[in-house]
Amino acid sequence: MYLTREEELMFNGEYGEGLAKCMRLLVVLGELFEAEKMVKVKSCHVSGVSYKNIGEPGLELLKGFAEENVRVRVKTTLNPSGMDRKRWKKTGLDKDFAKKQSEVLKAFKRMGVSLSCSCIPYLIGNKPKFGDYVAWAESSATVYANSVLGAKTNRESGLSALASAVTGRTPYYGYLLEENRKPNVRVKVKFKPSNQLEISALGYFVGKNFPEKVPFFSGLGLVSKDWLKVLGAGLASAGAIALYHVENLTPEAKFFSEDNLKDIEKFEVGLGEVKQTIQDLSEAYERCEAVFLGCPHYSLSQLREVAAFLRGKKVKPKARLWIFTSRLIYEKAKKLGYVRLVEKAGGLVLCDTCMVVSPLERLGLEVVYTDSCKAAHYLPSTNRLKVKLENTLECLRRITV
Ligand code: F3S
Repeated sequence: MYLTREEELMFNGEYGEGLAKCMRLLVVLGELFEAEKMVKVKSCHVSGVSYKNIGEPGLELLKGFAEENVRVRVKTTLNPSGMDRKRWKKTGLDKDFAKKQSEVLKAFKRMGVSLSCSCIPYLIGNKPKFGDYVAWAESSATVYANSVLGAKTNRESGLSALASAVTGRTPYYGYLLEENRKPNVRVKVKFKPSNQLEISALGYFVGKNFPEKVPFFSGLGLVSKDWLKVLGAGLASAGAIALYHVENLTPEAKFFSEDNLKDIEKFEVGLGEVKQTIQDLSEAYERCEAVFLGCPHYSLSQLREVAAFLRGKKVKPKARLWIFTSRLIYEKAKKLGYVRLVEKAGGLVLCDTCMVVSPLERLGLEVVYTDSCKAAHYLPSTNRLKVKLENTLECLRRITV
């Protein structure tokens, strides 16, 4: 592939061995996908942050980069880590894990990465503009960047996103190319989703049936950004979807006329398929001892809804209600009194981590209730937890008195 003079210098180790390793990795990736060149990126989002997932090899790699003075060149945010940096003791984690997780974060910090520790970078200051090239890992964030913001990214791994952050480059292939951003399946939605779980299941159902496609949704109407976030998370967790369009709503949908769409595959989804998806991902279980919300991380308006419901209510004795969000949104929610309402009811708003990447299997729970198909997809394998899916308000009703 073609490299500029500066990229060649990076490749050959003129700027240090750490940066050279990153550039070589991107060249291998680019050659694999037949990229003709590199392009500059405006921002990066790096996953692979929890010590639970990366373990000692990941920590050593990051420490090595930090010690070699490898630094990021563009705005770079981080996905959730394995713990709330301030209240990890409240979540039953031991100090050995906390120590290792802190070392991981320290290495990222030395590299110049923002310790945002959240999967919604676009709500907390890493919001690319329409048409920007970026290199984002975390499938729910990638699909949001492509579809809702109109930025251009492939589904990066933690390592390739970090290599892009360090070099400021990404290979030019895949969803960076206009021709790969065209829809190739038209999904007609035959019902009006009435809550967040239904929109999550709609995404999951379509992702499962068309794992490699670019869906074009029609009939969905004007749904909120929160719901687009949830739709994308469902699509990207059941399949490898990195981009979708919604008629009259997402920024690139207007480029595709009826004429463009008439020859692509068509598919209809009704409420029946969505309800079946929810049932298939759910345990038949009635006792509710834990509700985990915030996959993807909750926005301020989602927290407001939960807080409003909890006014004057109490979480059942010995039960847990945990809501995951970013630290920045937590601070805003605190000022607005939402955190106090959740805590007064006996719940916890946790930051820097999430239910999937935190070692929650240590809690000894059998089943957790949640409103996210993505969480239901991962929790059984990552945390040996069974999941019962209910919509947000039903989850809250179950856990409170
Ligand atoms: Fe975010 Fe964790 Fe879910 S990273 S999308 S809350 S699995």
